[in-house]
Amino acid sequence: MKHYFINSRSALNYVFEKSKYKDLPKSILLPDYICEEVIDFFQKKFFKISFYKVKKNLEPDLINLKKKQTDNFTFILFIHFFGYPQNIKKFKNFSKKRNLILIEDNAHGYGGLYNGKELGNFCDFGISSPHKTIKGLYSGGVLYGRFKNVNLDKYHPNTLNKFKKLIKMKFPSILIIKKVLKPYINIQARSYKSLKIDDFSFDKLKKLNINKLKLIKKSYFQSLSKILEKNKINIIHKNYNAKLNPWFLIIKRSKKYEKKLQNLSKKNNFHLITWPAKFKKKRYKKINSIKKEFYFIDLSFTYDGYKAN
Ligand SMILES: Cc1ncc(COP(=O)(O)O)c(C=O)c1O
Repeated sequence: MKHYFINSRSALNYVFEKSKYKDLPKSILLPDYICEEVIDFFQKKFFKISFYKVKKNLEPDLINLKKKQTDNFTFILFIHFFGYPQNIKKFKNFSKKRNLILIEDNAHGYGGLYNGKELGNFCDFGISSPHKTIKGLYSGGVLYGRFKNVNLDKYHPNTLNKFKKLIKMKFPSILIIKKVLKPYINIQARSYKSLKIDDFSFDKLKKLNINKLKLIKKSYFQSLSKILEKNKINIIHKNYNAKLNPWFLIIKRSKKYEKKLQNLSKKNNFHLITWPAKFKKKRYKKINSIKKEFYFIDLSFTYDGYKAN
């Protein structure tokens, strides 16, 4: 089952406040390659957190993970970094043996399929953040899993919609819109507290043509990787393969070709992204094991998600 929220933290908030998991001890194992927002979320929910190592190929360091004392932990979360599926079977075996509840985080790769099934559906529950990768959405987080009585109508109103209508009417004045409404909407869109997806984005996601999205990504993956290889730029996954689910192109960062890459991005109109953003809070600074080692290129930034006519 798929349930739509304002973002994926809001989906997690639902799980930890309203579902069958709400009374379990709050403790979680997180990968040490992660963004500040997720750590902040679990800290605000008073979770005990321990980090397991992620290797430079973006897979978990299983030796490190297996050494971990997990008796006092309830949950473990893993990330399909940039939509590339992790070895789900290994994570499942590990969590089963250790009696951990497994959370599948596909925030970066909404709609990505693995063996014909949407990522996010393989574990106890999963999340995704379509608002990050589908163009033109105001909000959008997804919760995957079996949850009884998910009544999201109660789960906070469409405040965002009302504001957006006001913005469309350009009322009361451009200045107020700029100074008050837009910042307010941005803050709301980033909040995880009890907010469901807005109607506009929900409608757009319902109409999303995943197959078309996948084809666009495939063709862009193939053409772009050729250009990059020609320029001797090292891509992590060179050959297209449906199981890879390439939602982004991952490039190893190196000073050698930094300039070349910047020029190519201008010439071929692609955006270089680094992730995660620099941590603002000092206490998190040590956590990221892999610091800005990669560039990522979104393979569908020109597709706005609507069904082909
Ligand atoms: C891997 C991962 N999971 C979850 C999130 C949270 O996403 P959202 O902004 O939809 O709550 C993020 C980013 O903030 C992320 O990078």
